[in-house]
Amino acid sequence: MAKTLVLYYSATDTTKRIAETIADRLDADIHAIQAQQPYTAADLNWNDPQARTTIEQHQHAQRVPIKDDLPDTAGYQNIIIGHPIWWGIPPRLISATIDALDLNGKHLATFATSGGSNYDRSQRFVERTVKENGYDVQLNQGQVLNNPAQVDSWLNSLNLA
Ligand SMILES: Cc1cc2nc3c(=O)[nH]c(=O)nc-3n(C[C@H](O)[C@H](O)[C@H](O)COP(=O)(O)O)c2cc1C
Repeated sequence: MAKTLVLYYSATDTTKRIAETIADRLDADIHAIQAQQPYTAADLNWNDPQARTTIEQHQHAQRVPIKDDLPDTAGYQNIIIGHPIWWGIPPRLISATIDALDLNGKHLATFATSGGSNYDRSQRFVERTVKENGYDVQLNQGQVLNNPAQVDSWLNSLNLA
């Protein structure tokens, strides 16, 4: 049976809960992505133009370094990556995560939680990062997931190994 790895970044545990539901449904392994420099509450204040996330998210092509502890993807056919939406797009550490994984020959699916934004811009962000890396990967359509029912219907829509 194909093996799935669920990777997620979550600042305030919303994405973590959805990632755990997905891992449970697929009997997958799960791993939390961490920023090399963790985000503080002040870093996450979107009302502050000088906050770390405000600055990072507005710098095109920026990479935010992650902790070097990602699992080896060699034994997995499917990789699922979850993240919150920040300023319409994934946190820029998601680019660093995609850079760090060898996704050649894998099936990749990404999802988010958000306060209301849909997945359109995040999908383009992921597509661009995959292309920058030249990966030969089967990329699925991502989605914002708010509850277990949405998780189930999204999982049913995926083309996984
Ligand atoms: C810095 C920052 C920017 C955000 N920008 C957006 C946004 O553009 N659109 C949106 O719908 N929600 C936005 N949110 C809300 C988060 O996407 C939402 O609360 C998410 O579920 C948080 O996930 P987490 O608990 O896993 O970190 C933002 C949150 C933060 C902290």
